[in-house]
Amino acid sequence: MTVSRQKIHEDGPEFSRLAWGAWRLESDPDAADPAKLADKLEALIELGITTIDHADIYGGYACEAIFGAALKARPGLKSRIELVTKAGVALVKPARPNHVVKHYNTSKAHLVASCERSLTNLGVDAVDLYLIHRPDPLMDADEAAEALTKLRDDGKIKSAGVSNFTPFQFDLLQSRLSFPLVTNQVEHSVLHLAPLHDGTFDHCQQHRVSPMVWSPLGRAALFGETGERHERLRKVLEEIAGQTDAADIAQVALAFILRHPSRPVPVLGSGKFERLQSMARADTIALDRQQWFRIWEASNGAPVP
Ligand SMILES: NC(=O)c1ccc[n+]([C@@H]2O[C@H](COP(=O)([O-])OP(=O)(O)OC[C@H]3O[C@@H](n4cnc5c(N)ncnc54)[C@H](OP(=O)(O)O)[C@@H]3O)[C@@H](O)[C@H]2O)c1
Repeated sequence: MTVSRQKIHEDGPEFSRLAWGAWRLESDPDAADPAKLADKLEALIELGITTIDHADIYGGYACEAIFGAALKARPGLKSRIELVTKAGVALVKPARPNHVVKHYNTSKAHLVASCERSLTNLGVDAVDLYLIHRPDPLMDADEAAEALTKLRDDGKIKSAGVSNFTPFQFDLLQSRLSFPLVTNQVEHSVLHLAPLHDGTFDHCQQHRVSPMVWSPLGRAALFGETGERHERLRKVLEEIAGQTDAADIAQVALAFILRHPSRPVPVLGSGKFERLQSMARADTIALDRQQWFRIWEASNGAPVP
């Protein structure tokens, strides 16, 4: 089987139904050797996972260049993947000696310069999707929109979106743009239900935008963490795995996300190919309404009101 594909917005890119995230790439043993990382990418593409999520800051500003080295080692890969990257968070790291305090920066100069640096590090002429990483309390919507418009007009980004924005923040930026924002990338998992209830996913449906979902397995908390809530959830996920074709609780937890009508795209964070291969099967697992609500109930620790 290969993972299915979907447009994330009528005027946006077509992505694989499951994406892969590069946040943890620096500690991935395959990443030390560009040829080995290129092999892993080939294998992901064979599985149908072609959408790769980056940010300028991943690995203390190192991950994009690590990934770029693999693309350079295997030039044919570039045309077979979709690249997402982000900007707007400024870390205090040796790679940015002028940052003295962690902050957000959505100024035009920062968004444009960061994108250009990402393109150089990745070794590409354009990214498919460029996201403002976090809402910046000092964001001047006109200025941020000008930056995204310039980058799009210059052919450096094919589309734009946001991450961790509230619906109001999304609408504010959208109101200054002549083209649509095509996603809001937010945290969601069986352990983090907030976007189902705080208006985020309603807003996505309203605008026919597919959200991208980060930490879809709760940064591994689903597997390792003890405590009543985690144990209750694991038990229910295991029971539902038994009722469906799912091989394990990760597949059920991802199927829970995929079931939402806003058609979210989970961004998988595992570095282990065998795990990713297994997770890809979540795309074929259809939870019925009652199975979905059993998971919701187990997460909340209370019955549906
Ligand atoms: N926009 C944002 O603000 C934002 C924030 C955070 C992340 N992100 C994006 O989202 C992506 C995914 O985030 P994430 O890495 O937190 O996702 P995740 O898939 O929830 O967690 C990945 C972690 O779970 C572990 N894991 C997976 N399956 C496991 C299993 N069966 N048993 C034990 N451990 C298991 C992985 O370890 P192994 O590698 O050993 O499998 C890895 O450490 C990131 O790469 C990044 O692209 C975006």
